[in-house]
Amino acid sequence: MEKKKFYVTTPIYYPSDKLHIGHTYCTVATDTLARYHRLTGDDVMFLTGTDEHGQKIEEKAKEAGITPQEFVDRIVDGPRGVRDLWKLMNISNDRFIRTTDDYHVQSIQYIFRKMYDNGDIYKGTYKGKYCTPCESFWTESQLKDGCCPDCGRPVKDAEEEAYFFRLSKYADRIRDLLENTDFLQPRSRVHEMVRNFIDPGLEDLCVSRTSFSWGVPVDFDPGHVVYVWVDALSNYITALGYGNDRYDDYDKGWWPGINIVGKEIVRFHSIIWPAMLMSLGEPVPKKCFGHGWLLLDGGKMSKSKGNVVDPYILAEQFGVDALRFFLMRTFPFGSDGNFSNELLIQTINTDLANDLGNLVSRTTAMVGKYFGGQLPGGCRSWEAPEEYDRDLTAMASGLRDAYEAQMEVFAPHKALEEVFKVIQRANKYIDENAPWTLAKDMEANGPRLAHVLYNLLESTRICGILLTPFMPESMEKLFVQIGAPADCQTWDSAAVWGRLPETAAVTKGENLFPRIDMDKALEELEALEAAAKKAALPAIEIEPQLEEQVDFDTFCKSDFRAVKVKACEAVKKSAKLLKFTLDDGTGMDRQILSGVHAWYEPEELVGKTLIAIVNLPPRKMMGLESNGMLISAVHTAQGEEKLNLIMVDDAIPAGAKLC
Ligand code: ME8
Ligand code: MG
Repeated sequence: MEKKKFYVTTPIYYPSDKLHIGHTYCTVATDTLARYHRLTGDDVMFLTGTDEHGQKIEEKAKEAGITPQEFVDRIVDGPRGVRDLWKLMNISNDRFIRTTDDYHVQSIQYIFRKMYDNGDIYKGTYKGKYCTPCESFWTESQLKDGCCPDCGRPVKDAEEEAYFFRLSKYADRIRDLLENTDFLQPRSRVHEMVRNFIDPGLEDLCVSRTSFSWGVPVDFDPGHVVYVWVDALSNYITALGYGNDRYDDYDKGWWPGINIVGKEIVRFHSIIWPAMLMSLGEPVPKKCFGHGWLLLDGGKMSKSKGNVVDPYILAEQFGVDALRFFLMRTFPFGSDGNFSNELLIQTINTDLANDLGNLVSRTTAMVGKYFGGQLPGGCRSWEAPEEYDRDLTAMASGLRDAYEAQMEVFAPHKALEEVFKVIQRANKYIDENAPWTLAKDMEANGPRLAHVLYNLLESTRICGILLTPFMPESMEKLFVQIGAPADCQTWDSAAVWGRLPETAAVTKGENLFPRIDMDKALEELEALEAAAKKAALPAIEIEPQLEEQVDFDTFCKSDFRAVKVKACEAVKKSAKLLKFTLDDGTGMDRQILSGVHAWYEPEELVGKTLIAIVNLPPRKMMGLESNGMLISAVHTAQGEEKLNLIMVDDAIPAGAKLC
């Protein structure tokens, strides 16, 4: 039988900052889908990558004082960058496209020229609003309270000579695509798109910019760069070789593919992208699935808002598979969901440690304890099955089809629900059979006990196969523990009860999903997050703002002196203040109060020569008089304020004037 070709993509990520758990959600979901299709026997091409052009990247690079290319290279290929993250998360993409790759740039120029030549791109003047963080043009009527309708931030006025794409020309065909086909999923997104964009009338789209240069140049009109969304969306075909010689898969049955995207970019993927393809005379994607957002305290996670959750920390703390599983199990794909660490830990404990983990560890332990790790031949069948035998085997045998039905409609959370029904049923089956009681009389009950354990192993095997796309590494370990050979791990075998050899070698291995102590884990997470935040801060921060100018004569009136510390003690009831008794060379003690206790203990300062300004008017603090101010240097190191009193060596006598 010829394999079906399945081409699936994630959006390509903006490397404007590190990725967070929301991006991870999107990529893990697509990976799960890709792995599911491989499991069913399809030939899969899975693409992800990075979207590296545009004004935002140009601005960020400038802030960092490096070129845009260096900037994106760091975030894409650098330590804990995009590629590292996908490796860590076990993402099985076949290709990784960067929009700065030469072949992609070449294709974009080809695509732009082709649409220009066929009359769908024309030159005009752009007047409107631009949201720099989102790289989106908006018309006045699209703004929400004068701000970007996507992110709510202020927009800028923009006016420049620009090329336009005749999006309006495709309005009817796009409406037809949305309303009369099942291209856009879930269906609720269709209404959003039609109501918000098609009904008010599609306007032509500005597709070039001249006010910055970090983009693909329009090769027939230097000074213009291609609008970043035209550049980015095209990745789905340039990565197959459309318009370039790097790959030659475009005509080999991969296209059209399936785009999995977050809801805020459905507009680009279900309106602009199909219209571009129509203009190019190419087929539109098979499907576009718009998933929901992971929310944090009710708001969208966002790199620019700083409320992100670091997937590295979560994966390191809880395990990659547990994190992957949590994302797919907890949030209905297509709706928004509230992310929290408590929910993550709860899900791991309930589903993985309790339900699945217990089933595996109890079953393998009992096979070990009662049968030395190998069930006797003949244990597969039982002459007079009990009601619960039939119930369990029926559920497990029908599981693959129920699961498939959900996976085919992009409902991985429901597919998992089906798997967990069987896992829970199997755990109940253990209690119903009370193997420990059967084991008390092995002579009489041994065969029955072996049959019960076989049924448990077999249910576990079937669940294990179907969980593989979600937790590939852990399921490999599970197969080793239950002794399932490769031909018992296949999609076909998941629909056939009784495929596990009766005498499979069973070993109770490591606990696949240890239970997590909620309080302890939350505390550790907090510490890790704080440490990561601190590490991300600049090593040293110097106060950038120079003070207002002061005229020379005024400055010269300041009387700075070397002063020697004769005595120093903490001021009672003050956390900050130290009281200094100083020799200022006049023969009379000078008293100065200074808020440096956070950095110095009084005894370490006695005998030191410091610098003070001595002609300030006296000031009262905590009921004590201070005559002057000690001079210190301040800066911030990794988020912490540092202070050093200026100290000079003994060559400078007390009272010496600084000038
Ligand atoms: O949009 N919850 O890139 P991006 C769920 N470069 N998904 C989220 C999320 C969250 N909190 N935050 C982000 C872009 N995402 C463009 C795509 S494609 C031709 C160009 C998802 O890095 C988001 O919805 O801002 C999107 O699907 C993906 O992460 C990349 O977002
Ligand atoms: Mg985005």
